[in-house]
Formats: sequence, C-alpha cells, structure tokens
Amino acid sequence: MTRTWQAAPSVGHPLTRVEGLDKVTGRARYAADIALPGLVYGWVVPATIPRGRVIGIDVAATLAMPGVLAVLHPHNAPRLADIGEGTLALFQNDRVAHRGAPVALVIADTPERAREAAERTAVDYLPEPHDADFRPDHPGLYTPDHVNPNNATTTDKGDVDAAIAGAAVVVDREYRTPAQHNNAMEPHSATAVWADDRVTLYTSTQYAYTVAQSLTRLFGLAPGTMRVVSEHIGGGFGNKGAPARPDAALAVMAATLVGRPVRVTLTRPQLYPLTGYRTPTAQRVRLGADEDGRLVALEHRAASQTSRLVEFTEQTAIYSRAMYAADNLRTSHRVVALDVPTPRWMRAPGEAPGSFGLESAMDELAEACGVDPVELRLRNDTQAEPASGLPFSSRRLAECLREGARRFGWAGRDPRPAGRRDGRWWRGTGMAGAHYPARTAPTTAHVTALRSGDYVVRVAATDLGTGARTALTQLAADALEVPVTTVRVLIGDSDFGPAHGAGGSMGTASWGWPVVTACHDLAHRLASGEPLPPEGLTSTFDSTDAVGARRDLSRYAFGAHFAEVAVDVSTGEVRVPRLTGVYAVGRVVNPLTARSQLLGGMTMGLSCALLEESMMDARFGGFVNHNLADYHVATNADVGELDVAFVDDPDDELNPSGVKGLGEIGIVGVPAAIANAVWHATGVRQRELPIGPARAI
Ligand code: MOS
Repeated sequence: MTRTWQAAPSVGHPLTRVEGLDKVTGRARYAADIALPGLVYGWVVPATIPRGRVIGIDVAATLAMPGVLAVLHPHNAPRLADIGEGTLALFQNDRVAHRGAPVALVIADTPERAREAAERTAVDYLPEPHDADFRPDHPGLYTPDHVNPNNATTTDKGDVDAAIAGAAVVVDREYRTPAQHNNAMEPHSATAVWADDRVTLYTSTQYAYTVAQSLTRLFGLAPGTMRVVSEHIGGGFGNKGAPARPDAALAVMAATLVGRPVRVTLTRPQLYPLTGYRTPTAQRVRLGADEDGRLVALEHRAASQTSRLVEFTEQTAIYSRAMYAADNLRTSHRVVALDVPTPRWMRAPGEAPGSFGLESAMDELAEACGVDPVELRLRNDTQAEPASGLPFSSRRLAECLREGARRFGWAGRDPRPAGRRDGRWWRGTGMAGAHYPARTAPTTAHVTALRSGDYVVRVAATDLGTGARTALTQLAADALEVPVTTVRVLIGDSDFGPAHGAGGSMGTASWGWPVVTACHDLAHRLASGEPLPPEGLTSTFDSTDAVGARRDLSRYAFGAHFAEVAVDVSTGEVRVPRLTGVYAVGRVVNPLTARSQLLGGMTMGLSCALLEESMMDARFGGFVNHNLADYHVATNADVGELDVAFVDDPDDELNPSGVKGLGEIGIVGVPAAIANAVWHATGVRQRELPIGPARAI
C-alpha cells in the first residue's frame, strides 16, 4: 500500500465544525434522541417542603394510574455506596434536604403518563424549620478545609492590616453577586439500558469517563460494567460537569428495577433544584496603595452558601491570588450550609464572581488615586504569582491591556464620571483585567492508521458545542502530517479510557496532549516501515506521567475587557453597545471556534452583569424564577458589537499542543468592566449584580 504524505498544517486555520453538517441536518443524536426498543420513562417526584421527613407515599394509588410500571422510593430503592456525593444518595433515607429534591421516581410507558402520575403522587411530610436565607453575616458561616476544586481556603502573605494602616490610599468595599443558573439549551437527560451484563448510559455530560467511574462505585458494579456515551452536547456551562447527576443515577436505578431501558429527562424548572447553580457571594475587598496606585496590600474575603448534601465552596477569592502584585496579600473563604439546592460549577466558578469584586475595587482605587484604570493595572503587573511567588509560565496581561486599549480607543478618555449625556443616554466606558488557570489533566488517547489511508482517533473527550472535536481533528492531522479530511475523531465514550472532561477550560489541553503524542508515535512507526495489519495500526498514549512531571510554574491565560455602556437617564436601562476582549491563551488551534467561545463568554459576562439572577424565596426554600421567561439570559438584542482579539502567547512549558484553554476566560472581568462603565456613565458605583434598571441610577 502506498501512502501519500501530504503536509497540510491545519492548526491556526478556521476549520468549520467537523460535525456541523450532522447537527444542522438533524443527523446528530443528542442524549434524549437515542431511540431504543422498549424504552420507558422516569419522572421525578420532587419534595414540596424545604426540610423535614417523608412519612408516607401513596404508592398503590400511583401504581394504579394509566401506564405506570413502577415507583422507586426509599423502601424499594437499591442500597447505594457512599461515594461522598450527597446529591446521588437518592432514596437512601426519608430526609428532605431541600425543596425539589427527589422523593420518588415514577416509571411509565410514556413521558406524559409518567409526568401525570408523578404530579398526582401523594406524599406526606413531617416538615421541620428551615433556613434558606444567605446573608453575609450569617452566624452559620464557617471556614471549610478547602475550596473548589482543591484550593487552599486561605492564603496569607506579609501583614495586610499593618500595610493598610500605613497606606496612602485605601479602598474598602463590599460586593455582592446573586445565585445564577446554567441554562443550557439541551435539557439534562439520561437513558440507561442493560444488555449482556453491561449498562450503557446515554447522557448529556461534560465528563463521560468520570460519570462511568462514579456510577460504577455508587452501584457497586464490577469494573467495566458501566459505559457512558455522550456524543453530542447542547451546552453545559458547568452543571453537566458533576461526577454524575441525579437523572443519571435515577435512570440506572430504574432500568435495573424494571428490566427495560429507562429515560429520565428534566424539565427546565426541574434543573433549578437538581443540577447545580452558581452560589450567591458576598465579598469584601480591601486595597491599600501608595499615591501612584501601587498596591501595598490586598485582602479579598468571600462568603458563599452550600447545601446540607455537599460542601461546595465557590473559590471566589482565588482570583486575587494571581492577578496583581501586592507584598501583603490575604485571601479567605467562608461558607454556610443551608436548606437549599446544592451549588456547583457555573462557567468560570470563582473567577467570575471574584473578578467582579477585585476588578471593581481596582476601578475605585484608580478613581481614588487619580490614575487611569489601564495604567493602574500595568503598574501592578508582575511576572511572579503574587500569592505563591512562583514564576508564571507566561503572562502577557500587559500586552492584552495595551492592545485592548488600542482597539477600543481608550486613549484620551475623560476619567470623570457622569459627564457624557447624549439625549436620553448617559454614556461611559470601563475596563477590567482577566485571568483563568491553564491546567492539564491526565488522559488516554488512541490513534489508528487504517489501510484505507484514513486515521481514527479515540479519546473520551466531550464537545459541548464549542468545537473540541474539530480542534482535536486539527491537532491530530498536523501531528500525523496528513490532511484533516483523513482524520476522524471519535469522542464521548467512556470505553475509550480515562480522560478529563470538558471543564475548567482544560479540555483541549488535556485531550490534545495524548492525541498529539500518540499521533507522533504512530507517524514514526509508519515512517519506519512497521507493517499495517488488516485491523489497522494503533498507538496509545496515557499522559499521566508526562503531566505529573511538569515543572512547578504558575500557569494562567490572561485577558483584558473593555466595555462601552449607555444608561437611560430616566429608566436606568443599561445597554452595552460595545465590548472588546483581548486574550493571551497560548496557541489558538482554531480561530473560528476560539472566537465563538469567547463571544459566548463575553455574552455570558454581559448577561451576568445586567440580567441573570436566580431568586430564592427564603420562606419557601426554592428558586421561584425557574424558567427562561422569568430568569433572563442575554439574547442577541442585548448584545452590541463584540470584538475579540488574541495576542501571541507562545508557551512551551504547557503541553505538546501549546494550548492554555479559553472556555471560560471570556466571562472573567466582563461584569466588572460593565459595572465600571456604568459608574463612568452615571457616577453611581455598582457593587451588586445584576445591575439592572433599578440599581443603575
Ligand atoms: Mo466549566 S464551570 O469548568 O464547566
């Protein structure tokens, strides 16, 4: 057989999504689209009290309803292993941990009949007094052992109090951010089917391999019994990132009970209590600086809530550990467990709310010192991570700030607030820095050369719609030195082996490492004349040792955001005609999909600044605006001109693909940039999100 070695570098070129045609023609199958013979449907019966006990369920009456096959509840559910994940301890006792928690699952032959029966199932409760009221001074606040995902709770360098006492300029402010929900377009759905002593779960998850591992442990299954397939995902934003979600565990439980394939799909209102959200935060930021705005002290304290089921502490203050130089630097977190749904990851957890606190306070410091906000950040730039002292592998924040200022037209800005009225609008501009950690996790990938001349890559990656599959196709094609059209990347299957998920902006970096290395190995084997057997020749690479051997450096992507706002002088409506984002994110594999992700991030930042707020009625213990009519997410009409640019950020300390990750940095700092612009427009400081008409003027 002859092969044509054709150099066709693809990385850096705007390849359209390789699965795009499948998606627009409807060929792509999402989790809830998979057709299976004999499929039946599970529907959650949610707790209608915020705290207490279930003392009775009228199972007989539900079983008599049309189409009902079974009811899962605490008295017939299988005993589950304790895997340290309270949201998966389903039906293991009679406790109600929060409103909306599953107390039973009704299984019926159609989704409509399952829903009807679930909604008519009679449950008796013994309610207990509850507390769902998050307050910055809540007496239940405590210091957890660590914050998400495994960060130190507190860092303390120098003497912050003494430095602030001696500082020429001090800013000491409190900031608040609300609860927010990840509203992906595709609902959460899981379908479990047993065949040949294996159970396959089709589900919409960011972490196929992790879900398989978690459910294997939860159900005490033999290794290799559980397969998770997640080929296409319609958005996740973090709340499809949990080790497993209730819908997944319930589908497996129900399929085991009834001996048929079972699908559990959550409605949008059901995701509000069941699949995670961003906690509300209360932050206090204290800055001490000299007259020129050089920080001598920085303190960032954060408080957030968690549920009774899981201790999840948003890592809000970690943003301040790596952003601006300060010899005296303290960051800390406290959390309070309330009778509320469990908070989780929502895009740029920690960094998004934390950057609102610090980047807003920096704007107040710029005002107090009379220093331009861009110049203030340049004066506090550093090439060593302030909290740890570790050198950055690369930090091109200054380039992002300068290039952003140039593109946006920042020069000559009049710093005084409330000086630009234009008809019914006050106009203003604001900016903020941004960073996001550049991490990599061990992953295994396989690449096979076929006799047809094509190549198949297998890695348990997931593509949230962001273009991960396309980027991996490009990385593999270049590593093999073949055209992208000869490479097929298969993802979203836990059977492909251990892999990190699409989370923490780590996907492409983590998957790319073994993909590129396995491709190099395969190309070398082929070039050295190794014969190609009928089934193809496969190279496999597990990056565990390589990832573990990395030099100790601080690795981050950096960025800068600039915003122009117009605020209606009478209603306080805030419009954002222009946002500019400039990023240093390592190598950009695909400028088309990279730009799209950052447009999405900036839009989410705008949405966070102006619109998004999950409203908890503390008397009731539930989120009351649990639908897209009442929970406002930015639409096209809310977004003006978005400008995305990259600065060159070569970084050979990272990984073989040179990728830092850009999934989340687009949101970081945008809420502060907009809030700072609203202050510049109106003279009213914005220390609480969302800004909205009521707060803007
Ligand atoms: Mo992102 S919140 O790490 O999925």
